[in-house]
Amino acid sequence: MAQAKKLMRALAGEMHAVPPVWLMRQAGRYLPEYKATRAEAGDFLSLCYNPDLATEVTLQPIRRYGFDAAILFADILLVPQALGADLWFVTGEGPRLSTITGPEGLAALKPAGAIHETLAPVYETVRILSRELPAETTLIGFAGAPWTVATYMIAGRGTPDQGPAHGLRQNDPATFDALMERLTEATIIYLSAQIEAGAEVIKLFDSWAGSLKGEAFTRYALEPAKRIVGALKAAWPHVPVIVFPREAGDNYVGFARATGADCVALDNSVSADWAAANVQTDGCVQGNLDPRHMVTGGQDLVDETRRIVEAFRKGPHIFNLGHGITPEADPDNVHRMLEAIRG
Ligand code: CP3
Repeated sequence: MAQAKKLMRALAGEMHAVPPVWLMRQAGRYLPEYKATRAEAGDFLSLCYNPDLATEVTLQPIRRYGFDAAILFADILLVPQALGADLWFVTGEGPRLSTITGPEGLAALKPAGAIHETLAPVYETVRILSRELPAETTLIGFAGAPWTVATYMIAGRGTPDQGPAHGLRQNDPATFDALMERLTEATIIYLSAQIEAGAEVIKLFDSWAGSLKGEAFTRYALEPAKRIVGALKAAWPHVPVIVFPREAGDNYVGFARATGADCVALDNSVSADWAAANVQTDGCVQGNLDPRHMVTGGQDLVDETRRIVEAFRKGPHIFNLGHGITPEADPDNVHRMLEAIRG
């Protein structure tokens, strides 16, 4: 059957004068309706594990903007929690986790197969969403890539340079590699369950891939992505996968081909013209408007949006930001961006 959804067609290689569009973190604190639902849930993690309320916040930006895709409302750090790590969020600061600094920390983790116990409500959210989404809207499931998730598990928080994770991989490679292995297995199991529940596309977020250089990038960003994509494709050859090795720079070139992914998402540190010439030659790309335009708006927002659409016009493209929309964004600027794309 011919694929009717525009975002699915772009992932299959179709070109569009008006590209499909969605935004990273499109369900989030810039929307008053999100803040109201989060208050009803009590806190962020309770929202993630409440299928009805997680469905509601996933649908809010679809109702408001008619995006071409909805992304499951959850978080990449639910996987460490399902493996037994402690996880909490400090308001205004971000996530905190118990730390893994050596073999004892690793030994305390549950086996990858145990994650369903904690993550079952997430699969329920996917099931409800696949019933409730408009017929033209694609449902994206996701997980963090092993390296990015490991950086949080090792440091116990977000870090500017991922120093603790680099330290462990250099000083205790046995523990580090075993952690990467556990995360790779858990990620395959988690994403498989999301597909079984109704996710139509998978996105793998490697937000901190940019701090891996040379051989380390190949080993800890490219290889795990290749294994995860390969395992999903073996079972579901027709489910597209978007990979996001954020700030990979030159390592974006050939990344989709090397990992078997259908699309590479680009951050806004690379120019659209460069990416059109060097990355889009392999297939669909996603990106890459600087999220600050959602705060600053004005003619710059319109010009930049049109420039990106124009730069990627000669190949398949999904319009998105280069990173998540921030809490300070003006919801009206999203309308202005859509107007600039869709006319
Ligand atoms: O709308 C969507 O994009 C879907 C849901 C989603 C969230 N997080 C919800 C969220 C997705 C896909 C993520 C991915 C995620 N989570 C990443 C990878 C993408 C990226 O941004 O690089 C990372 C690194 C995380 C970990 C994480 N979660 C951090 C560092 C933080 C704190 C920073 C912040 O923005 O507050 C979160 C919290 C988080 N995840 C929020 C949301 C809506 C804000 C929590 C709140 O409501 O208070």
